[in-house]
Amino acid sequence: MPTEWIDLRSDTVTRPSPEMREAISRAEVGDDVLGDDPTVRRLEERVAAMFGKEAAVYVPSGTMSNTLALISQTRPGNEVILDRNSHIFNYEAGAASAIGGLQLYPLDGPGGLLPLPQLHSTVRPVNVHHPQTALIAVENTHNRAGGRIYPFEELEAVSDFARECGLRVHMDGARLANASVATGIPFQKYASLADSITFCFSKGLGAPVGSILIADADTITNARFWRKRLGGGMRQVGLLAAACLYALDHNVDRLVEDHTKAARIGEIIASSGKLTLTFEVETNIIIFETASDAIDIDTLKQSLEKSGILALTFGGRFMRMVTHLDITDEDMGRLESILPSVLSSLPS
Ligand SMILES: Cc1ncc(COP(=O)(O)O)c(C=O)c1O
Repeated sequence: MPTEWIDLRSDTVTRPSPEMREAISRAEVGDDVLGDDPTVRRLEERVAAMFGKEAAVYVPSGTMSNTLALISQTRPGNEVILDRNSHIFNYEAGAASAIGGLQLYPLDGPGGLLPLPQLHSTVRPVNVHHPQTALIAVENTHNRAGGRIYPFEELEAVSDFARECGLRVHMDGARLANASVATGIPFQKYASLADSITFCFSKGLGAPVGSILIADADTITNARFWRKRLGGGMRQVGLLAAACLYALDHNVDRLVEDHTKAARIGEIIASSGKLTLTFEVETNIIIFETASDAIDIDTLKQSLEKSGILALTFGGRFMRMVTHLDITDEDMGRLESILPSVLSSLPS
């Protein structure tokens, strides 16, 4: 069994670097529930300005940020339109329904995009029989669509349509930094198409904990109330916010390196003849599937593990690998030799 894993399960597996730990140890702190933590305030003000919005609130997780976004901009019984493969619909333990009383209306779009014609017919007319449509949620980049970047013009069309209908738009931008670095489109420009945005520090940016919800001042006031109600009010949390500030200073531009590494892994997979890429690799996520029924995905996972590579099976015949800050050039060197040989040993 290898001593050094090449851990491609997720970009959430990174550990804080010595420099990030140093920034944590120097953080000025106070009681953030009382509004006294200067480092948290600095983070929230900086991120709100970065996104061109009025305010932001630091929260423990992307899941809490999405949940606060939805319940702070809707009323129980409202309907939220979103992609069937979205994180909110699949991986947030039903929070929007359980906590916000929301009805989720999933659409089947190609690669995580909301299909516009279907979107038009999904918004409910005002009628006593119907739930009221209140919000459209988009995900950028899209996790289950292999880190796909939501094309800007398509986002613009969704946003224009939502505004025509008087609906709010929430962007789950857990990995918006990956989209921004890959396209060169600034955060502010993406944010201009949404009323609220979730942004995560604990994924590609390499901070240990935390996400932030960014929106107008009223929505954030509402979200602060809900954060407290859900037990997300944290005290001397400037320790964590300091890591996030460090991540913004040092770990955004370098995401291109993760994208280059992911593209290389995608090439190895595509050229194996045993597996096919389910989505083109656009950022740091690679989703692929077995090319024949002769290959069992769990057996492939075990073979990779025996060679020191960790990846996640992603339902049925699918597997996911994600590159991140802790995948070094040396790891890539090892992968270049190990991965082709594991794949060539698979049955055809
Ligand atoms: C697109 C997306 N949104 C939200 C989240 C939730 O983040 P957290 O795990 O911090 O709750 C994730 C987590 O992987 C994600 O991929």
